[in-house]
Order: sequence, then C-alpha cells, then structure tokens
Amino acid sequence: MNILLLGAGGREHAFAQKISKSAHCEKLFIAPGNPGTAQFGENITISVNDFEAIGAFCKAKNIQMLVVGPEDPLVNGIFDYFKSDIELSNIIVVGPSAAGAQLEGSKAFAKAFMERHGIPTAGYREFNKSNFEEGVSYLRNHSLPIVLKADGLAAGKGVVIAQTHEEALHTFEEMIQLSLFGKAGERVVVESFLTGVELSVFALTDGKKYVLLPDAKDYKRIGRGDTGPNTGGMGAVSPVPFADDVFMGKVIKQVVEPTIKGIAEEGLIYHGFVFFGLIKVEGEPFVIEYNCRMGDPETEVVLPRLTSDLVELFLAMAHGKLENSLIETDKRAAATVVLVSGGYPGDFEKGKVISGLDEATGVQTMAFHAGTMERKGSYYTNGGRVAAITSYGSTIQEAVSTSLTKIQSIHFDKMDFREDIGYEFLG
Ligand code: AMP
Ligand code: GLY
Repeated sequence: MNILLLGAGGREHAFAQKISKSAHCEKLFIAPGNPGTAQFGENITISVNDFEAIGAFCKAKNIQMLVVGPEDPLVNGIFDYFKSDIELSNIIVVGPSAAGAQLEGSKAFAKAFMERHGIPTAGYREFNKSNFEEGVSYLRNHSLPIVLKADGLAAGKGVVIAQTHEEALHTFEEMIQLSLFGKAGERVVVESFLTGVELSVFALTDGKKYVLLPDAKDYKRIGRGDTGPNTGGMGAVSPVPFADDVFMGKVIKQVVEPTIKGIAEEGLIYHGFVFFGLIKVEGEPFVIEYNCRMGDPETEVVLPRLTSDLVELFLAMAHGKLENSLIETDKRAAATVVLVSGGYPGDFEKGKVISGLDEATGVQTMAFHAGTMERKGSYYTNGGRVAAITSYGSTIQEAVSTSLTKIQSIHFDKMDFREDIGYEFLG
C-alpha cells in the first residue's frame, strides 16, 4: 500500500525506517520530512496542518494509510477531516479523532477524564479568569512545590514547577491575566508535585483493544544529572530497568486498562497511540500526562526494539485485531543521545555544516536526523534538536557508550549533548 507519514523530526525518521521495511509498504511519502526520512521515502513539501493539501495529495497518489507523527494535526482534527470526505474516508488514519486527542490537547480534559475513571494522578484544581481570585487563595495555601499547567498545547513550555508561592502566583497571573502562554494558558490546571521516577509507556489502540510497545525513559532537562531547563528531550533508553513485571502489572491494571475502557465508554474514536507519561511513587504508578502520539526521542529507542512489522500492527488496529502475540521485541537494550545546537532550548543559530552524521549508522547504531537540512549534498543544522544517535547494546551502559563513541566522529559548530543519558542505570 501507499503510505503518507506526517512530521519532520527524529521520531519520523525512525517511523520512516520502520514503515519502509514493512512487507505491506509499496511507496512511502513523508510530509514535510527531513533529509533522514528522504533515505526511506519521498519527502513532499506540505505542512502537517495543511489538511486540504494533504487530502488532495492522498487522492492524487492513492494513499491508503496516513500515519500522523506530531500532536498538532491530531488536536486540530485531521482524523475527522479525513472521515468527513467521502474520497478520503477509507484511508486508515493512525491517530485519534480530535475528541480523543483532547487527552493531550487539554490538560483539564485529561485530569477530569482520569478522575471520572479512577486513574491515579496528582490531585488538582482547574482555574480560569472567572475564578481567578479563588485560584489565588488556593495557591497561597498550597504546599510547595506547586505545579501549574497551561491547559492547551504549548510546545512543551506550558508546565511550570513553582518553588515558592510568589513564583506560583506570578506564573498564575502570567497565564490567566496576561496571556503570556497564549490561548493555551486561559485555563490552568494546578496540581500537587509528585516525587518519584518517570517513565513512558506506549499503547497502540483501536479504542477497545490495545497492545503495549516497549517502554522507555526520556531525559528532558538540558544539563547533566537532570539539571537546567526542560527541552523536547535530550536522550532516551529502553527498556526501563525499574519497570519490572510487578510494577508493569500495576500500570496495566490501574492505568492502561481503565484508560482504554474510559475511551470506549465515552465513545471517543481513538485509533492510534496513547503515550502514558508516568511517575513511580513508592512503587505505585501515577499519570503525569497523556500524549496522543509517540514520544520524541522515545520513538528512536522504542521502534528499533520492536521487531514486529509496524504496518501490520496498524492494519490489525484498523481491523479490530490487535493481539499481544503481534508484539515481538529485540531483547537488546537501546539508547539514544540527542545532538543539539548550542544555546538550545534558548536561542541558537542554524545553518552550521554537519559532518559524519550518516557515517555513524552501522550494525549497532542508527543516526536519526531531526533538525537538519540538505543543500548540494551537505547537511546543515536546521533546529534545536539536530539528530538522535541510537545504539543497541547488551546493557543500557553498552548502548550509551556505543552512541557516545560514534558521536566523536560527528561535528557541527557549537554541538551539544548529554554524556550522561541513562546515568541512573550505569555501573
Ligand atoms: P509535561 O509537559 O506534562 O510532560 O510536564 C513536564 C515535566 O514536568 C514532566 O515530565 C515532569 O517531569 C514534570 N511534572 C509535571 N507534572 C508533575 C507533577 N505533578 N509532579 C512532579 N513533576 C511533574
Ligand atoms: N519526549 C517527550 C515527548 O515526546 O513529549
């Protein structure tokens, strides 16, 4: 079949590689893609939110499956757009309806959903302009630290963990009264801070049945030892050593199953990934957030560990035939180290020549492109996160160390990365 993949990051390079290997894939297109995805299919210059152009392209090229990488088009309703057009409605869309994508698109919706279905999460309250003053006194009496979340999509910048009441009140005002977080911050979720270790769990579901993919842990902070500001993700490892059978049993029973049951009970149309951002607190799982898509850079370690045919999984999803027996995994560990532009997540420069990137790919290692561009046969940096270097290893330590060795031969001006990915699991 002909398949169109939407997105342009390291996640999409990993998806493109995996989809192109499928026995079901005849021709793969990626919109807009990056120089990495172009190694496995044909990039087309259409933006992920230009539904009309995407629809027209699907009709012209006889596309039978649309795989949506990022959250924006899902929250904006690409699934619904396809289902409402008679010529597009037969195309299998991997990604939930706009209503289902609210699990990521609205923190207030996600919290209320968890409350309705008894899914463990931090206690919370929701505020907007109309109950702002009540919010102020709620914050004054709240224990520290206090977590404030802008309700809508805020490109990973909508969560503030306030260490003082002054900071919390200031952020609250910035979000609700001063609109510094845009429309996303008009509603604010205030929740208790949970202390524990975080991990990511991924399900592929048709809204009733589901399968779990390998789990992963990402490293969000810019600095060594998880310090400094949050980023899109500086690296990831899979599997997660502390996600043992006992803990995963609790995750399935207390989080995954009630979520899928809740989706079914509420009649949410959901054919795609549910990303559970979890925290383990004294042995118990709590949900920090839901995402309606795969993670980046988690995908760059999850898909390399999935040996099943991914398109076959998508077909099983579309036909109501998801079964655990479809999931086969590589027992090796995988780790990815993200190369970023100096200055990221703050200001950084683009357009630096990159050398040695594709050469890093070999038996143990895959160099996934993220923010890169190609001109006259050379690669240049084109974003904050430039590439993700994934390696296999018999242990996480070995996988990380192989990636770090490979990185020694990759260069661009002001290149930065974390040398301590997986540090808790080493030695
Ligand atoms: P999010 O954008 O929802 O992924 O939040 C960003 C990060 O903030 C998460 O990965 C956590 O590290 C942290 N975080 C969010 N909510 C909480 C919470 N209730 N308790 C502790 N940490 C949190
Ligand atoms: N790595 C976290 C995310 O994709 O949201």
